[in-house]
Amino acid sequence: MSSVWSAPNPILFGNGTASQVGAELAKLGCRRALVVFDKGVANAGIAGKITDIIKSAGISVVEFADVQADPPDWSVEAAGALGVAESVDCVVGVGGGSSLDTAKAAKLLITNPPPLKQYYGREGVVTKPSVPLIVIPTTAGTGSECTPGGVITDTERGIKTNIAGVGCAVTLGIVDPELTVGLPASVTASTGMDALCHCVESLTSARANDFSAVTGREGIALVAKYLVHAVENGADLDARRGMMLASSLGGISMSGALCHLSHDIGRSLGAKFHVAHGNGCAACLPQVLEAVSAVKPDEVHYFAECFGEKSAYDAARNLMKRIKLPNLKQLGLDRGALLDAVPDEVVMQCEMAAKAGIVTSPIPVTRELIADIVARAYDEN
Ligand SMILES: [Fe+2]
Repeated sequence: MSSVWSAPNPILFGNGTASQVGAELAKLGCRRALVVFDKGVANAGIAGKITDIIKSAGISVVEFADVQADPPDWSVEAAGALGVAESVDCVVGVGGGSSLDTAKAAKLLITNPPPLKQYYGREGVVTKPSVPLIVIPTTAGTGSECTPGGVITDTERGIKTNIAGVGCAVTLGIVDPELTVGLPASVTASTGMDALCHCVESLTSARANDFSAVTGREGIALVAKYLVHAVENGADLDARRGMMLASSLGGISMSGALCHLSHDIGRSLGAKFHVAHGNGCAACLPQVLEAVSAVKPDEVHYFAECFGEKSAYDAARNLMKRIKLPNLKQLGLDRGALLDAVPDEVVMQCEMAAKAGIVTSPIPVTRELIADIVARAYDEN
């Protein structure tokens, strides 16, 4: 087996590193920044802290403070249009995955004309370079600072799609665990499970390679060591740092290997039932790991060992209970509605990806398999 890994962009990692954002923008020659965030980041005081640091470096700030969850095309186009109208020369994304994906799309649209839909899902099309982009995650989960694209909701077709290419590439990721100290336990749990899914899905992906194996394994070990502590005591900075590192490792791990069934199901739950990304991706993780254990026995056994359990099924299920992650029932979802929608959607998405030459699941994806996984997750988790 040969393995190829390209470092997507530099990462500045460590407690207090957010204080360097102004100096880093100045080094890039920037004078006017579009700063992209949502109301939660503003209310937590983080957006104000970041914009103050940028201004103190002599760089003016234009705020796009209205990031939407699962960012829809119309919202990210508004962010891009603001950047063009205000003649910004750089973009800074601050927040969770939705803010960072909006910032990536805004960067793209500053030098590549709208509508955004002409750039969906066609990696390499966005070849026109754009302005510098610094992303500053405030959750430990998405790993978006290490991935070369973003996820956008295509509101015309009602599906999630991707943008990718040099036009939306991250110039620098600043990963400061101190920014996650005030996160509520429920968000720490949900985003932490997203990071765990990135690590274990890329480790067990049909596209897994030597690099995804190393980063995925280390990420799983970090989540096993720190997630419960981070949920139970948000001020535990060691736990926050461990989870932030796991999140970045998950982003690196999935960059080539990509995710599979847990994320395929999670995307469907997000698009059709508005389930938060981390909750949706984790909802069926025990059953997915059990399903792939026959073809990826060593990797699945490693997962169980990290959590001190005999089976990955028990490890994932018990972790979800310990961190009080809501299951499909607690999310208020209807079993029949799920089984009507999710299997067909997942199979369709996997078939579309396969036509583009991208197969990530280590086992064949059938309607029956997904229906069984979802039904069991509903009844058992
Ligand atoms: Fe994810």
